[in-house]
Amino acid sequence: MAQQAVFDAQAVTEAVAEGIARIENASSTEELKAIKTQYAGADSAMTQASKAIGALPADQKKDAGKLMGKLRADFGRAFGARETELKAQEEARALASETVDMTLPIRRKPLGARHPLAKVMEDWEDFFISMGWRISSGPEVETEWFDFDALNFGPDHPARQMQDTFYVKGSQARDAAGFVGSNMVLRTQTSSDQVRALLEYGVPLYIASPGRVFRTDELDATHTPVFHQCEALAVDKHLTMADLKGVLDKLAVAMFGPEAKTRLRPSYFPFTEPSAELDLWFPDKKGGAGWLEWGGCGMVNPNVLKSAGLDPDVYTGFAFGMGIERTLLLRHDINDMHDLVEGDVRFSKQFVMGE
Ligand code: DAH
Repeated sequence: MAQQAVFDAQAVTEAVAEGIARIENASSTEELKAIKTQYAGADSAMTQASKAIGALPADQKKDAGKLMGKLRADFGRAFGARETELKAQEEARALASETVDMTLPIRRKPLGARHPLAKVMEDWEDFFISMGWRISSGPEVETEWFDFDALNFGPDHPARQMQDTFYVKGSQARDAAGFVGSNMVLRTQTSSDQVRALLEYGVPLYIASPGRVFRTDELDATHTPVFHQCEALAVDKHLTMADLKGVLDKLAVAMFGPEAKTRLRPSYFPFTEPSAELDLWFPDKKGGAGWLEWGGCGMVNPNVLKSAGLDPDVYTGFAFGMGIERTLLLRHDINDMHDLVEGDVRFSKQFVMGE
C-alpha cells in the first residue's frame, strides 16, 4: 500500500510558488503544458496535498482547504495569463513567417509543347485507326534485304549507293528471319516495313507504318539526313487501284480539310506496278498555287508479294508513302527544315493544331 501523504502547508506553498515562477519564465505553450503536468498533475505536490486533507484532524481541515483553494487559484491565474501571452506571440511569429511578398517576381517554369511532327504523325495514325488498320513499325537499323532486295530493288539500283544510304560498318544481319550475310543499313524508307509486316502478320494485311528514315542527303534548307515518312500497305484478295485512290482521297480530307483532293501521275518505283506520283491540292495550301507533290504510291509489285511468300495470282495490294516533314510544310509555311530538329519550344508552340 502506498504511503499515506502527509499534509505539509509550507512544502506545498513553496512547490506552487516554484511552479508559478516557472510559468512566468516559460517560453512556449509546449513548455507551459509540461509545467502544468509537473505542478498540477496527478503526481504533483498540489494534488497530493489536496488528497492528504482527508486524513487531517477535523479542526485543521478548513484552513488546509482554504490554502489549497488559494494555491490552486493562484496557479491557474498565472497559467492562464502566461498562456494567453505565449499563444499571441506564437501566432504572430507564424503569421510573420507565412507572409507572402506579393511584389516578388514569380519563377516561371516554361511549359513544353507538342512537336509539330509528332502531331502530324498522330493525326495520320488516327486516320488509319479509324479505318481499322494496324499501326506497325519496323526497326531503324534494318537489313539491306528488307530495305531493298525484298522490295524488288535490283543489285545495281542507284539508291543502294553509298551516296544515298548509310551502311552500318562491319555489320551483318542478325535478323531472326535468317538473312545472314545481308548488310545492315539505316533504313532509307519506311517501305522497309512492308515485307517485314507481311511476314509477321500474314494476310489480309492493312498497316500504316510511321517512322524515322535516314539518307546521306546534303544538309540544306529542304533536306536533313534524318526525316520521317509514313507508309501504308494493304494486301488482300481483289484490291484494285480504285481502293488506293479512295483511301488517298479520304486521307487528304482527314489531313487537309473537306475540299482536299489528290491526283496520280504515272511514275516508277521498284516495289509497285503500276506506280504513281501522288499530288495534293487544298485551298489553304502553303508554298504556292496548284498541285504539289505529296508522295508515291502504286499497286504492290508481284515480286514483293513473292518476297513475302504470297501468290500474286491470289493476292493483290496497294501501297503509298509520304514524307511527314513535307506534309507539315504543306500545312504550314515552314521554309527551313532545320527548325524542325532544333528542339526550340518557341517554334513548336506555333503549331498547336486542334489540341
Ligand atoms: N519509299 C518511297 C520513297 O521513299 C515512297 C513510296 C513510293 C512509298 C511509292 C510507297 C510507294 O509505298 O508505293 O521515296
